[in-house]
Amino acid sequence: MHVVIYSVVGTKGGIGKTTLTANLGALVADMGLRVLMVDSDIQGSLSKFYPLDKKAEQGLTSVVLSGRVTEAAISTTSWERLDVIVCDAPRRRFAGGIGESTDLEQFIQGRIDAPMILRKALRAPIIEDHYDLVFVDTPGAQGPLLYTAALAAHRLISPVLPETPSAREFRTGTFELLNKLDEAQALGISPGPLTAVINRVGHTNDARQITKEIRNSYLEMKGLVTVADTAIPASVAYNEAATAQLPVHRLRKRERGMSPSETMHKLVWELIPSLNGVYAGGFGENESSEDDHGST
Ligand SMILES: Nc1ncnc2c1ncn2[C@@H]1O[C@H](COP(=O)(O)OP(=O)(O)OP(=O)(O)O)[C@@H](O)[C@H]1O
Ligand SMILES: [Mg+2]
Repeated sequence: MHVVIYSVVGTKGGIGKTTLTANLGALVADMGLRVLMVDSDIQGSLSKFYPLDKKAEQGLTSVVLSGRVTEAAISTTSWERLDVIVCDAPRRRFAGGIGESTDLEQFIQGRIDAPMILRKALRAPIIEDHYDLVFVDTPGAQGPLLYTAALAAHRLISPVLPETPSAREFRTGTFELLNKLDEAQALGISPGPLTAVINRVGHTNDARQITKEIRNSYLEMKGLVTVADTAIPASVAYNEAATAQLPVHRLRKRERGMSPSETMHKLVWELIPSLNGVYAGGFGENESSEDDHGST
């Protein structure tokens, strides 16, 4: 099986990219696949999401600068089969405080092969040999890091909130992003298909109505953008799990309706059909436990 790279992208901050990346990564690892997560957001939220067993000396900076992934850049999390390349790029604010950039982004921008940098680094034998799936978290603002991370992927996943301005923003923002990524056609690469995942659906009719509208407005774009059938309900469990540094499917919690664990299973089955029907080992709907850390 060839490794498949998913980049979780968005054109807006705070829509759930990091939460989704971390929860998909850990669930798939719990299902038995070897997973590498890559944090390409200088906020470093994914890097801190789970406890690290072994913090590597290097991280994203060395990968981008050298164009290669080496073992020295791979940290292991406390979950079995789940590794991470942490984002070690320092933030730098420019005078005036409006723009925010890093030396890393400037480095990428200055390169003629900018769109290819992460793609080449991640589509390499060291990744093929050690992993089944890669999940890349990306920054919430358009820029060189987002573009190179998006173009590294075979497939794109994008959360979208079921609020009217947000849904509209998603439509225009996604087109802008896909158009921008299409510029890489000059280098012979094109972005992978994008699956929108409606995230944080409330109980109100409004959210349901907007969810319906989002689905309808994307029907015409089948092939380029599809909307996942599985939507993620709004639940404090996602926040609580993050605070406890746990994947949400391992959070011990009773909820009415579908539990976050069931939702995430359904989403994984839909996104990765080869895993259809596979449950996280020992962590099915009624077995969730936060006492049992994977490798410890
Ligand atoms: N389905 C959900 N229900 C409730 N809260 C959620 C859900 N998904 C994510 N959240 C919460 O929303 C907040 C933002 O999520 P997250 O940090 O993953 O977004 P992001 O897109 O990565 O943001 P940024 O653009 O800053 O990187 C977090 O507090 C997270 O716990
Ligand atoms: Mg994030």
